[in-house]
Amino acid sequence: MMYSDKVMEHFRNPRNVGEIADANGIGEVGNAKCGDIMKIYLKVENNVIQDVRFKTFGCGSAIASSSMATELIKGKTLEEAWTLTNKAVAEALDGLPPVKMHCSVLAEEAIHKAINDYRVSQGLEPWDYKEHDDIHAEVHGE
Ligand code: FES
Repeated sequence: MMYSDKVMEHFRNPRNVGEIADANGIGEVGNAKCGDIMKIYLKVENNVIQDVRFKTFGCGSAIASSSMATELIKGKTLEEAWTLTNKAVAEALDGLPPVKMHCSVLAEEAIHKAINDYRVSQGLEPWDYKEHDDIHAEVHGE
């Protein structure tokens, strides 16, 4: 399996690893097939993501995706961060092998959950989010 230099670089030297003690938005997702888990911590102030950290118990592509995704949403408004797709994360990594695309889905979904966690904590309605139901198909290459 071939990985891009960017995937390897973010896997070896992931950005924004860890937790935020006073996070005000936390999102955790897991993939039932591979068992990998990703947790995203947000520190939101004035609708802007001032800080973001992650803890990922998973494969190299999941770690690289978390690292890239945190870089892409840091300093962004919640509306901007909400539009980040797993495809955009994979493209920013110069691509992921097809059987590894589901790893980038974890990043997209963990960010959505963290943003909605923040919104609910502020008494706001969570935004509508349709979870990817094609993850397992991708795992099996169907
Ligand atoms: Fe499960 Fe990558 S997240 S194999």
